[in-house]
Amino acid sequence: MRFGHFDDNNREYVITSYRTPYPWINYLGNRDFFSIISNTAGGYSFYRDARLRRLTRYRYNNVPLDDGGKYFYINDNGKVWSPGWKPVKADVNDYSCRHGMGYTAIGAEKDGLRADLLYFVPLDDTCEVQRVTLHNNSGKFRRIRLFSFLEWCLWNAHDDQTNFQRNFSTGEVEVEEGVIYHKTEYRERRNHYAFYSVNAPVAGFDTDRESFLGIYNGFDHPDTVFAGKPRNSIAHGWSPVASHCLEIDLKPGEKKELVFVLGYVENPESEKFIAPKVINKTRAKAMIGRYDTVEKVDIAFRELADYWERQLSVISLDHPDPRLSRMVNIWNPYQCMVTYNMSRSASYFESGIGRGMGFRDSNQDLAGYVHMTPQLARERIIDIASTQFDDGSAYHQYQPLTKRGNAEIGGNFNDDPLWLIFGVATYLKETGDWSILDETVPFNNDSANTASLFEHLNRSFRHVVNHLGPHRLPLIGRADWNDCLNLNCFSTDPDESFQTTENQKGGKAESLFIAAMFVLYGKDFVAIARKRGEDRMADEAEQHIRSMAEAIDAHGWDGEWFLRAYDFYGNKVGSKENEEGNIFIETQGMCIMAGIGLEDGRALQALTSVNRHLACEYGIVLNNPAFTKYYLQLGEISSYPEGYKENAGIFCHNNPWVIISETLTGNGNRAFDYYSRITPSYLEEISDLHRTEPYVYSQMIAGKDAFLPGEAKNSWLTGTAAWCLYAVTNYILGIRPDYDGLIIEPCIPADWDGFTVRRKFRGAIYNIEVLNPEHRMKGAWEITVDGRKHHSCLLPLFPEGSEHNVRVIM
Ligand code: BGC
Ligand code: NOJ
Repeated sequence: MRFGHFDDNNREYVITSYRTPYPWINYLGNRDFFSIISNTAGGYSFYRDARLRRLTRYRYNNVPLDDGGKYFYINDNGKVWSPGWKPVKADVNDYSCRHGMGYTAIGAEKDGLRADLLYFVPLDDTCEVQRVTLHNNSGKFRRIRLFSFLEWCLWNAHDDQTNFQRNFSTGEVEVEEGVIYHKTEYRERRNHYAFYSVNAPVAGFDTDRESFLGIYNGFDHPDTVFAGKPRNSIAHGWSPVASHCLEIDLKPGEKKELVFVLGYVENPESEKFIAPKVINKTRAKAMIGRYDTVEKVDIAFRELADYWERQLSVISLDHPDPRLSRMVNIWNPYQCMVTYNMSRSASYFESGIGRGMGFRDSNQDLAGYVHMTPQLARERIIDIASTQFDDGSAYHQYQPLTKRGNAEIGGNFNDDPLWLIFGVATYLKETGDWSILDETVPFNNDSANTASLFEHLNRSFRHVVNHLGPHRLPLIGRADWNDCLNLNCFSTDPDESFQTTENQKGGKAESLFIAAMFVLYGKDFVAIARKRGEDRMADEAEQHIRSMAEAIDAHGWDGEWFLRAYDFYGNKVGSKENEEGNIFIETQGMCIMAGIGLEDGRALQALTSVNRHLACEYGIVLNNPAFTKYYLQLGEISSYPEGYKENAGIFCHNNPWVIISETLTGNGNRAFDYYSRITPSYLEEISDLHRTEPYVYSQMIAGKDAFLPGEAKNSWLTGTAAWCLYAVTNYILGIRPDYDGLIIEPCIPADWDGFTVRRKFRGAIYNIEVLNPEHRMKGAWEITVDGRKHHSCLLPLFPEGSEHNVRVIM
């Protein structure tokens, strides 16, 4: 069952039924000011950091679900309704919510009155603009009252939800010329405030929540709105809100447009006040002035559209299957930009107060956006590397505001260092910007202890070499990519977190996943070292890689698939010898990507085992059989009920590793089949089961052992986004940046006739046409570049601004 449809020309998903199986959200904002908005106008805004600068309040896991947002109410002669259906939930006609690139448009009609709301964050400004359009489609004169509404958060989102003894006494506002200023704590250490304005005279306002709603009412029944009378309340402590009331007359057929602005302003210390207690509003007024007419708003909206046009023009696919094209051209790169901005911090599943930027997550996210914004990728790499320790190890997370490693979470996730090599290699392949390796980068943000970025990569590589276990395989530390495989932890205390608990000393658990990563990304380290003329270092690194591959051969094969790990006691994990959890997905993907078993049949055998034991209708599960009880020596993975999360859920992030592996063995049918099992546009028809948005990936889909297989959770902020885009563009379509140029090596389903891609790469444009007359899955029979035969699948580099035609016959 569907709840809307894709509108690819406008790059929108159009929700036409407001009772979606879960709130379906969108993100507004690109740099500093961000909003999350659901299809019924729920959500919140923040400036840079969802924890420390939360502008509007949101209650997670609320009852009812998704209550609280940027709401509008219409009182039409006593009948009250909301254009987004919520919060009033009065029946409306022709409801739609269009989630687009950085904007959301929600509208509905009731009794011949149409109301349309457009929400967006202008490029390079710190505000959310809301354009409200009212249209009298009835034959009668209408006089209505329109109420806006939002609830302020007292800045620190964690404190706001916990420290009520203080917070109920701190709230302060000012109201001037219909603009509501939220200035809680401005008198002391804060130099920022927020405001909410409208570009028309108001009939009144409210800033005190209880005065606006009535103490025992929800957002669905504000007393002032139902009475049609604002109270002009001024908040003193309790919960400050912002609501404007406007009286609007509409002749038959008449249309009126209003602009509301929710803004964030910082003042220099010396310019905080213009009189005792009166805040300096100069900057706010300037911001309001930038959007005080519909014409100005339209211009800002067009600039936003132009920005997305540019972003999405780097890769454009033309393929007869719109479900594929819209993912490759629109939604998958869009989601990747959101993961760039948010890492894993703020979504409808991440509360914005729990997590910082992940070391491994951010390195992997990079693969999804580096082609669109290489400059941001460069900055991100330097930020991440600056938190690395000089022994090559890493803080697992860092805070976006301070960019400092997060000591609460600590480190010891022994895969982390290698992801830096992956991130940098991916950046180099896309951009050819070798200068980044010479950047001076601190260790642990200490300016007295620095080295080149290249040396950071060397430390990453060494960290693995220096931490090998009894089988000459890498020690796992706290955990590897699978945060829940806690082989040294032995946690019996329900009050401690699996992520931070002290591991048992002398833990010798080893990870085959890190071993395979070392072989795979070690090769990138070697290639990079050679480019820099560091041949001795490269030769020596190759030795280590060879020994690692030998250790995998000797201790990593279980007969029909690759093992996952050795536990604390040296016992196998992910083996047919185990009671449960006999096979894991991660090492099948990572080993084959590293090239292990490609020549001797093990890769094919492992992929057959994946197909037999792990693949199901909705994707590939993480392990099988699922763990049915808690295993002290395995940790969090066995804490989840069967089929969920890391315990045999379809943890989508790792599915692309198998998809890529299938392409390496030439099985385009299976690669694409797996791709379409988890890709949201292919799941639109089962939205009622899938529940999360059909336009973005979710972290997890319940696996075959779950109570409800196919039900997804944790949409938006997941490494799945980057990895799926990477797998489909680089390995299925097969257009893959490499150090010396663009490689073209498609691996597609046999029934495809072909496709075309326009790819911008290092300043030139490649118009690539792939034809598949013989219905093969892989293999370029003939490549021509600008009409001339080209005898390699590595395409040449071209001068900036030039455009070239590439034709591939499979
Ligand atoms: C989740 C993991 C996550 C970890 C770190 C665990 O509970 O299952 O997916 O990486 O927490 O926050
Ligand atoms: C989510 C985390 O963000 C990621 O770092 C981890 O690799 C996966 N969970 C798997 O546990």
